Amino acid sequence: MQVLGIKTDLVRPGDDLVEFLTRAMNRSAQVLQDGDILVISESIVATSEGRVVNLEEIKPGDLARSLASRYEKDPREMELILRESDEIVGGIPGVVLTLNKGFLFPNAGIDSSNAPPGHVVLFPADPKGSATAIRERMGKGKRIGVIIGDSRTHPLRLGCVGVALACSGLEAVEDARGQKDLFGRELKITRKAIADNLVSAAQIVMGEGDEGIPAAIIRDSGVPINEAGGEIPTIPPAECMYIGALGIGPRPYSGGYDRLIECAGQAMARAYAPYSSFRVGAALLTKSGNIYSAGNIENASTGAGICAERAAMAKAIASGEMEFEAVAIVGDGCEPVSPCGICRQSLIEFGEDILVIMANCKGDALTASARDLLPQAFTGRCFK
Ligand code: THU
Repeated sequence: MQVLGIKTDLVRPGDDLVEFLTRAMNRSAQVLQDGDILVISESIVATSEGRVVNLEEIKPGDLARSLASRYEKDPREMELILRESDEIVGGIPGVVLTLNKGFLFPNAGIDSSNAPPGHVVLFPADPKGSATAIRERMGKGKRIGVIIGDSRTHPLRLGCVGVALACSGLEAVEDARGQKDLFGRELKITRKAIADNLVSAAQIVMGEGDEGIPAAIIRDSGVPINEAGGEIPTIPPAECMYIGALGIGPRPYSGGYDRLIECAGQAMARAYAPYSSFRVGAALLTKSGNIYSAGNIENASTGAGICAERAAMAKAIASGEMEFEAVAIVGDGCEPVSPCGICRQSLIEFGEDILVIMANCKGDALTASARDLLPQAFTGRCFK
């Protein structure tokens, strides 16, 4: 197998990437052959598509400001991260881990390296579409594959490896199950991340900095060229070894349930909390789209008190609804209110995936699933 770097000029927003790469290849007399796989860095795809943003033009909202201070990031960049991601899973100072279309990305893939000062480069808007379009035009009748590549770290490993964002003309993941090992035993779970591995190979010549080699041709890899491709297959979080083993605890709320939080806030006004003076409101969203809300109801005999979320659940269940999507709980404390053990147990009875949104009146909010809040719960499954 050969890996041939393509040395280019600096790509600019609006450049036609196919013409740009063809010019670069012509300069060094490189010609695509049948069976070649072209690996292209996502940053030049995004830049040519004009996905370059001047941070001065971004006005961060309240959520972006609060997350930026929590994770020590530029609030404008955090605003872009919120816009570009489906969910913020968590973070450490300087970087947040985001989920987008089932993929984990640092900072939603937003990068300031290889961007002009004061600017950042977003991800390509449609990597799959770009890979297909580039392949059609670059191939000119030749049978080639195209991969849009990026780099990632593995948990606890230092250094980046290649990862494919999309590909066209090849199978991203080869299913090797059913093949035999050296001792004739059937391989059970082995799938080969062909596209990721090819990006890693390409990165040996591509580099990440000022090398000016943002693409590479992989020749004689033996990987079949066909009409496969598109998005790279993912697995659900529950089947992922890292997420399964490490768990994903409460994470910052990143939108989608504003109205539910608002209803919970309004329910606080209906709390009866003369003993603790700690008013809590909860709003429960059913899968049918209805919202049931209540405040906490205290009692002179302390143990007879009932928390807001259980009062809301009782209201919903008494109305004949037991399928819950999410519950928002709002208290007037310095931190988002966290459901007590009894409420966690009551909630998990109706679904481990119920999303729990914990908030306060200042706008701080965290989310977690009922399962995250009560791992290894005692549930009705035990009786089966
Ligand atoms: N409380 C709730 O209503 N929900 C929670 O998630 C936490 C605590 C109430 C119970 C009690 O009335 C008051 O807060 C103080 O403990």
